Amino acid sequence: MTLPPISSLFRRGFVNFWVLAFAAGTVAAGETLYHETWRPQFHFTAQKNWHNDPNGLVFFRGEYHLFFQHNPTGINWGNMTWGHAVGRDLVHWRQLPNALEPDRLGTIFSGSAVVDWQNTAGFRSGREPALVAIYTAAGGTSPESKGQPFTQCLAYSNDRGRTWTKFAGNPVLPHIVGDNRDPKVIWFAPTRRWIMALFKDGHTYALFASPNLKSWTHLQDLEFPDCGECPDFFELPVDGNRRHTRWVFTAANGHYFVGGFDGAKFTPDGPPQVADWGKNYYAVQTYSDIPPADGRRIQIAWMNGGRYPDMPFNQQMSFPCELTLRSFPEGLRLCRVPVREIAKLHGHQHAWKNVTLRPGDDPLAGLEGELLDIRAEIELGDASEVGFRVRGEPVRYSVAGKTLSSLDATAPLAPVNGRIQLQILLDRTSLEVFGNAGRVSLTSCFLPKPDNRRVEVYAAGGAAKIISLRVYELRSIWP
Ligand code: FRU
Repeated sequence: MTLPPISSLFRRGFVNFWVLAFAAGTVAAGETLYHETWRPQFHFTAQKNWHNDPNGLVFFRGEYHLFFQHNPTGINWGNMTWGHAVGRDLVHWRQLPNALEPDRLGTIFSGSAVVDWQNTAGFRSGREPALVAIYTAAGGTSPESKGQPFTQCLAYSNDRGRTWTKFAGNPVLPHIVGDNRDPKVIWFAPTRRWIMALFKDGHTYALFASPNLKSWTHLQDLEFPDCGECPDFFELPVDGNRRHTRWVFTAANGHYFVGGFDGAKFTPDGPPQVADWGKNYYAVQTYSDIPPADGRRIQIAWMNGGRYPDMPFNQQMSFPCELTLRSFPEGLRLCRVPVREIAKLHGHQHAWKNVTLRPGDDPLAGLEGELLDIRAEIELGDASEVGFRVRGEPVRYSVAGKTLSSLDATAPLAPVNGRIQLQILLDRTSLEVFGNAGRVSLTSCFLPKPDNRRVEVYAAGGAAKIISLRVYELRSIWP
């Protein structure tokens, strides 16, 4: 698949292929903001209008910042601006005024943010370190930036992200090729240099290094088959062992290389792998500056392509997930599970243990829900198929095929000791399914039938056994 350059799509007016066009909505009569019919109740959405990629994910002084690609004036993509939300627990969010607005260098495309603890860029004005955003100025995507190319720029904040100043010396990385974009920056302590992963063009990415965020040296190019846009690059312990680490390079669709990095060169260990098999998982990014005592690598994706008829907003983020690298017979694999803070939303719990599940049985009979966290361990026994029907949509494990399917997407998943584990997050417009503690995931959007809120568990072809099953009703994040 060749990805067309975004600015040419913009110029040709084709960007609406990303989303069905809906008339710009306002909150309908009888509905209150954040409680509208199709408003996700525990996934981030912009208060109003369009959003796409998560940007500038950074943790600072107790706050998770979630910037996002935002069209402040329209229900469809355009006028790219960094919207901004903050939260203290990865679950509840509060939207703040927009952080970065278009200027003569371009509209503001995707990028990242870091805490400049050592003041390497010299932006710090008070006692606290500055936050620095590294973003793409998408020249040529607005009348004001006509004739400008795509370049990489800086902005900084000395008030915990509340106000931002663009660096007077922008751009810090001039145009290289095509619509080069989406800088993701990390601090590499052993060489005391910043490392930037950048999408260049086609399927080519690059790494750069800098002592101060302002002057960058090219380190290498990296070919990433079938992938483009939004790189991320980070180190992870293998099987939780902080003394044994590998590096992970992800593309926008979450495909990833595992490899080694010595500060100058990233060398993949093998071919790229798929992290998530769902229909709506894109523009993934992980948090910068999570304190070492926490140590998690936390990722958010844009659930691109969801539909929200007649809503005042358009699109939603995935639920934040913790990433780990685990060893399997087939090699090291990136695993993702919802962050543990989901438990803050847990309400009433329904639980079962050691229940034989024959074809036709449904121990859940009568259970209904709109917001749920379902966790199950199932022994496959003689069944040919086991699974759930969630608001009428099957989440199906095929024993013969060794596949987990949900909403027209399928992931390979081998049982472990004859069992599978499932976690399912149900929100009003999405279903996120995690198999075997995040060995695979399927992140998908849907529009459920309004009158069907049933949840069923089933086995077909023979008897299986529910080792444990918990269904948590979830509270909305909105009061
Ligand atoms: C990914 C992407 C990025 C770009 C941004 C524009 O969805 O196309 O490559 O920076 O969105 O909104």
